[in-house]
Amino acid sequence: MQKRDLLYAGKAKSVYLSDDPQRLVLHFRDDTSAFDGKKKEALERKGMVNNKFNAFIMEKLQAAGIPTHFEQLLSDTECVVKKMEMIPVECVVRNLAAGGLVRRLGVEEGIALNPPTFELFLKNDEKGDPMINESLAETFGWATPEQLATMKSLTFRVNDVLKQLFLDGGMLLVDYKLEFGLFEGEIVLGDEFSPDGCRLWDAETREKLDKDRFRQGLGGVIEAYEEVGRRLGMTFG
Ligand code: C5P
Repeated sequence: MQKRDLLYAGKAKSVYLSDDPQRLVLHFRDDTSAFDGKKKEALERKGMVNNKFNAFIMEKLQAAGIPTHFEQLLSDTECVVKKMEMIPVECVVRNLAAGGLVRRLGVEEGIALNPPTFELFLKNDEKGDPMINESLAETFGWATPEQLATMKSLTFRVNDVLKQLFLDGGMLLVDYKLEFGLFEGEIVLGDEFSPDGCRLWDAETREKLDKDRFRQGLGGVIEAYEEVGRRLGMTFG
């Protein structure tokens, strides 16, 4: 697999074309951003840690029958993925209240959400990723009702698999964001799953082990990501 021209540089990852027209190369950079890019910093080792973390999780999901774009690791900071047509809608599931939900509704952080909630956001940096709903997504053509139903069902299946995986490592999966795309007409999980895009708390102490450490200036960001990986049986070298 040969990496070719840069296709797109996001806030934390760069996407390259490859010598296979059906495949792309994702490069996980050390760049870390929060608050719509207003807070930015390069955190040493983050690209490597997130690339390996993402590969581990994507393989677990694939093994559970959830289609993902992940194909293989290419280097410490790169992996090969299917070239998809991305759907510009972010799917968020929450098991415990935190972040945006606490801010919006004024509920107490950490309360259990039964059943877990499902929210949609438009992936649009300029507009600050506004919350949307199925009606808006259909009317504006961001996704069809059938696609949204599949995305919702896959997002909850991911919850079933990962809630237990993290619990086995003594962690609570508080919430997470997923993105999907179309590959050969099928809805496939894209983007990444790493502590950058989810919230994970120690099950006993509720210590934060995810990007909230960066957002809230708590320090030890990458050390926490590596700790999460270690608890799942990963080694980062
Ligand atoms: O900010 P909020 O509480 O709505 O985020 C919910 C979950 O989705 C968090 O785990 C957050 O890290 C993730 N998220 C993300 N990218 C966004 C928005 C949210 O990864 N653009």
